[in-house]
Amino acid sequence: MAVVHQSCVGYGAEPFASLVADYPGDDVYPSADFRTEWGPVFHRGRLDGSARVLVLGQDPATHEAISRRILVGEAGQRVQGLLAKIGVHTAYAMVNVYLYSVFGQAAGSRHAKDAAIAAYRHRWLDALLVGTDVTAVVALGDLAATAYAAWARTQPATAGSLHLAAIRHPTYAEGFARASGKPLAETTASQLANWNDHLGDLAAHVTPEGPTDLTPYAATWGPTDLAPIPEVDLPPGAPAWWRDVDAWATRTGDDKQTKRATISVVVPKGARTWPAL
Ligand code: URA
Repeated sequence: MAVVHQSCVGYGAEPFASLVADYPGDDVYPSADFRTEWGPVFHRGRLDGSARVLVLGQDPATHEAISRRILVGEAGQRVQGLLAKIGVHTAYAMVNVYLYSVFGQAAGSRHAKDAAIAAYRHRWLDALLVGTDVTAVVALGDLAATAYAAWARTQPATAGSLHLAAIRHPTYAEGFARASGKPLAETTASQLANWNDHLGDLAAHVTPEGPTDLTPYAATWGPTDLAPIPEVDLPPGAPAWWRDVDAWATRTGDDKQTKRATISVVVPKGARTWPAL
């Protein structure tokens, strides 16, 4: 029997049709600080009212620039694993603080309070949170926590009814190890301890779609802690390896210009199923 594929149905219904029709460009997101040349990446997950959890990430990276959905690479697979623990497999929606990939670490903080960036983001958050079945928000990292707090001030009634899990960003450990010189093992253990701190409360505020497994994270990532991205989350025809844990998109180039202009996409070894050449 033919395989029946699932795919993201996109942005046909309002208010999402309008949101993707009039997104902010370089006038709001300066290209010195954002990789606007790769276009905006809007969301991942359910826009049909079936979401129970909203994940607020930071900004899209290489895998997201290619797949046109957010939180698809390593960070996304870690979040997917967290949601799986609380029994949520597809009943979520995800948006980022920024539509475009941040260029340079400091740029993210520099624009944390930009009114025009926030105004557009608030339209998405209103659409996904006000009068919907979402009961909990997972904010990934400090920028997401700040952005959520700014939105919450505009919608105090809705925000007051939502559980907020403001957890460390899924790639906090790598970033903090690089910045501080601390061993990655130490920063990873600290990140996972932080996620453990939030796991029980988060689970208590979300109706699961299936069984939960609230086994705490160990001090390091375990083999089942990352989960692949569901097929239904990606645009039609997306190759299966886009959803796998193996990385497949990296910025390459010998100088800054080339590196900003280039994302190399390589089919992971495990997905090279063609006959031997
Ligand atoms: N990819 C995203 O889309 N968001 C993040 O926060 C990290 C990676």
